[in-house]
Amino acid sequence: THTSPQQLAALAQTIARTAGARILELRAAGVTVAATKSSIVDMVTEADRACEQLIVEALREARPDDGILGEEGTGIEGTSGITWVLDPIDGTTNYLYDLPAYAVSIAATVEDPTAFADGRRGIAAAVYSPRSDEMFDAWQGGGARRNGEPIRISGNLDLATSLIGTGFGYTVERKLEQLELLQRVLPRVRDIRRIGSAAYDLCMTAAGRLDAFYEKGLQPWDYAGAALIAVEAGAEIVGLDEATPPGEPLMFVGHPEIVRTLRDVVLGRE
Ligand code: IPD
Repeated sequence: THTSPQQLAALAQTIARTAGARILELRAAGVTVAATKSSIVDMVTEADRACEQLIVEALREARPDDGILGEEGTGIEGTSGITWVLDPIDGTTNYLYDLPAYAVSIAATVEDPTAFADGRRGIAAAVYSPRSDEMFDAWQGGGARRNGEPIRISGNLDLATSLIGTGFGYTVERKLEQLELLQRVLPRVRDIRRIGSAAYDLCMTAAGRLDAFYEKGLQPWDYAGAALIAVEAGAEIVGLDEATPPGEPLMFVGHPEIVRTLRDVVLGRE
């Protein structure tokens, strides 16, 4: 419990790197769908499960008093006040199709009722993209880095020339909702990217390679780590309104100025 956020970020990086190497090994050995979740297109592979287990075991060993929340079902109550929120493979569809954008996301969080959506705020995080060998990390107040080098959000505040990242959930309902938002935003921006991993998208926003990002319906493990990385790189995270209520399922990430313009356009407010 007396570990600094910087040390927690170092631990997250070590574990994310190990998990990333394992993910590539498993991919090389061949990959099949183990199960589906919210719909037939929402997939889980054996690698998702094996890597969640690997990460959970490593965290349990290093930090036995912490809680853990994992995408593939881990729910461990802790006593230290820190809960790790993890996604063993964010971008499972890319992983299955051997498209390179997928990432391991590991975040140390603390309870904060004012935090985006789920009432937890990241204090240290690592997001590792094994195919590009990019390690993104951040800790509260310590800035954000890509492979150890400081990163910063884009300085482009003009929506008309912006490259905007987004994603679609896996249920028909989510897809139809996104279609409606996309219809408003696509004509107003340079272009849209649906890269396929929200964690990676947020890191791309943090590094200024996307001008901003928005998505409806993300789960805490998709953004817990990368949201801190984006914030530490200068981004703001906003929901529907200034005071984002818990459970808010729509998130805009980027420079405070562009995210407000983007939000108005996406919501058809102007
Ligand atoms: C998904 C990816 C995708 C986003 C979906 C997520 P998963 O996570 O982040 O980009 O659009 O909403 O569910 O299922 O690959 O871990």
